[in-house]
Amino acid sequence: MDKLAVITGGSKGIGKALAETFAAQGFHLALCARNEADLKGLADTLSKEFGVKVFTRSVDVSSKESCQQFCAWVLDLGISVEVLVNNAGVFLPGGILSEEEGAFEKMLHTNLCSAYYITRGLVPSMVTRKSGYVFNICSIASFMAYANGGSYAITKHGMLGMTKVLREETKTSGVRVSAVMPGAVLTDSWAGVDLPESRFIKPEDIASAIWSAYQLSPSAVVEQIIIRPQLGDI
Ligand SMILES: NC(=O)c1ccc[n+]([C@@H]2O[C@H](COP(=O)([O-])OP(=O)(O)OC[C@H]3O[C@@H](n4cnc5c(N)ncnc54)[C@H](OP(=O)(O)O)[C@@H]3O)[C@@H](O)[C@H]2O)c1
Repeated sequence: MDKLAVITGGSKGIGKALAETFAAQGFHLALCARNEADLKGLADTLSKEFGVKVFTRSVDVSSKESCQQFCAWVLDLGISVEVLVNNAGVFLPGGILSEEEGAFEKMLHTNLCSAYYITRGLVPSMVTRKSGYVFNICSIASFMAYANGGSYAITKHGMLGMTKVLREETKTSGVRVSAVMPGAVLTDSWAGVDLPESRFIKPEDIASAIWSAYQLSPSAVVEQIIIRPQLGDI
């Protein structure tokens, strides 16, 4: 049966590595991000390389209406949503007392509210089918506070909380839910930081861990995946 993996922020970094992994396993993809050219470039590559359908849509997930329109568009594709990865996110460094006005709202809407709206839009179809897997990309900042972590950590604590709630709600419906909590992953989020590659996790490592969790039998779920750089947090 044809299966769809929906990945928000699927054009770069962790989302891109996930798109490559699921496409390599024969999943069709529905990807969103803001930059259409990035999405189209990746879609061309993956559809040619793996022979899967890659649907893309330019979406700013910080808008509730756009998230809802995205979900309607995904459901209209007519392919069962087997995997949802709530991945789109942004990190603006700062502290509660020092960050720019509006940083809290920007990260709240992009990192947390989007996942809530998209979950409400797509998970009911999984519940009806009694099958599906939701991976929420949280962070080490979901359970730790650190300098310059500011509102980012608040939103990621919220993401872990939402993941626990969803896990509880979907326990008996055949839908599995995991919180993925990476430490520093080498993506554009770290552009300009003067540290060797060896201090970071590779995006492909996050995708491998997620794929491994997905492969377990339907009677088992990895509730939390914590992955750190071997040399520790940055
Ligand atoms: N990198 C790390 O060290 C790290 C560690 C822990 C957790 N995380 C989390 O992992 C997730 C992915 O991070 P990453 O490092 O892979 O980031 P990244 O390389 O910057 O990629 C972010 C992706 O999200 C999209 N995106 C950003 N804002 C968006 C918006 N408003 N609407 C729609 N799409 C949006 C980007 O595309 P456009 O710019 O075209 O929109 C891009 O596809 C985030 O939730 C992040 O918090 C990252």
